[in-house]
Amino acid sequence: MKADVLLGLQWGDEGKGKVVDVLTPKYDVITRFQGGPNAGHTLEFDNIKHVLHNIPSGIFHADKMNVIGNGVVLDPISFKKEVDGLRARGVDPTKNLVISKKAHLILPTHRVLDAASEASKGVTKIGSTLKGIGPAYMDKTGRNGLRVGDLLDNFDSKYEALKAKHLKLIEMYGFEFNIEEYEAGLQEGIEAIKQFRLVDSENLLNNYLLQGKSILAEGAQGTMLDIDFGSFPFVTSSNTVCAGACTGMGIAPTKIGEVFGIFKAYCTRVGAGPFPTELFDAVGDNLRKNGNEFGSTTGRPRRCGWLDLVALKYSVMINGVTRLIMMKSDVLSDQDVIKVATAYKINGKEVTDFPYELTDGLEPVYTELPGWKCDLTGVKSENDFPEALVQYIKYLEEALNVPITIVSVGPDREQTIVRA
Ligand code: GDP
Ligand code: IMO
Ligand code: MG
Repeated sequence: MKADVLLGLQWGDEGKGKVVDVLTPKYDVITRFQGGPNAGHTLEFDNIKHVLHNIPSGIFHADKMNVIGNGVVLDPISFKKEVDGLRARGVDPTKNLVISKKAHLILPTHRVLDAASEASKGVTKIGSTLKGIGPAYMDKTGRNGLRVGDLLDNFDSKYEALKAKHLKLIEMYGFEFNIEEYEAGLQEGIEAIKQFRLVDSENLLNNYLLQGKSILAEGAQGTMLDIDFGSFPFVTSSNTVCAGACTGMGIAPTKIGEVFGIFKAYCTRVGAGPFPTELFDAVGDNLRKNGNEFGSTTGRPRRCGWLDLVALKYSVMINGVTRLIMMKSDVLSDQDVIKVATAYKINGKEVTDFPYELTDGLEPVYTELPGWKCDLTGVKSENDFPEALVQYIKYLEEALNVPITIVSVGPDREQTIVRA
């Protein structure tokens, strides 16, 4: 067997959580491979709305195994809150969730460092979720970090030593904070992690494949937030792209099967950084309102804009996407005309290859397509798609040269059209 990967092609929040939940019945195992509680993955079913941050979106299916892979950064405090939230819904994740011993830990002082670094940047700040992601990955690559496996052996002294280093750094920033506030719940969080099976997940996952079990890897963030290929420095600190699934799970590139690339029928971005097709007018406001575009993790309003095919083509290329999934088609229902950026004009010259930098003077070149001007939220089959939506899908499939196999028309599990 091979592992399939589902990942975001834009700036995150494409609807990964919803689709992973929808696809879970087809798989035996769901795995997260990078990122941490900066992610907010929303699932809606049976009139329940649930947001997951650290735990894979297969968790509501009791008969499926969920794995937090080695590439994830795990915050014990945030993790315990999430476990408690699931228990309140009657879900006991200790039964079907295991955690890699190699996953790095986000410590309270990583969150302080994140806040101190952002504060020091002033207007050039990245707009981090302040969950400690950047500092935790810095300690990983800097070879200082602590891992989940460290919780099993003399953790307190290792923690105190690393905390002492962090406190010196924070002092250099001159950042004021209250360590007790940041450390509140740490011990309980550590105990919560220890209730789970802590494993060498690379062995487990490869054995699953050998046994013929199917794996779906759930990406977090999106390709435009990738540390190498995103709009650097306004990115996250991990490889969100398909290659990150290999390093974040310990699965060889030859063992990757389908690559599901998920995108919104338009574009959003939360946090700072360039966004060529951003709309600052009533259309942008309409998308934000109709799409309920407010961050699942931070509640911040998301910036909204038209679909950007230059960026999308680049994402499809970097990830080797084999199937596309288009989300939130219903949100465009008010639009007479739908615009799609097919090129950027930079210094008077049109470019279609994604450039090194998305500079200020860059202007998108748009193609216009007719809107469908009808409510899609009740549509049950692609046979009932309005003609303008059929044409929009066809246009994108031709431009991207990949089939769109799922079209989402609302937040609920049921509002998902799988195309023949
Ligand atoms: P993720 O981070 O990729 O899992 O996405 P988020 O959960 O952060 O954001 C997606 C938001 O859109 C959530 O509020 C979902 O409930 C919602 N959503 C997902 N698919 C659709 C859809 O097709 N239509 C609408 N209107 N909302 C959707
Ligand atoms: P999901 O998985 C959208 C953004 C932040 C910020 C930048 C760096 O729900 O799609 P970080 O906290 O990683 O240092 O923030 O990345 N960001 C996200 N935006 N969805 C996410 O995750 C994000 N995770 C991080 O807003 O601009
Ligand atoms: Mg999200």
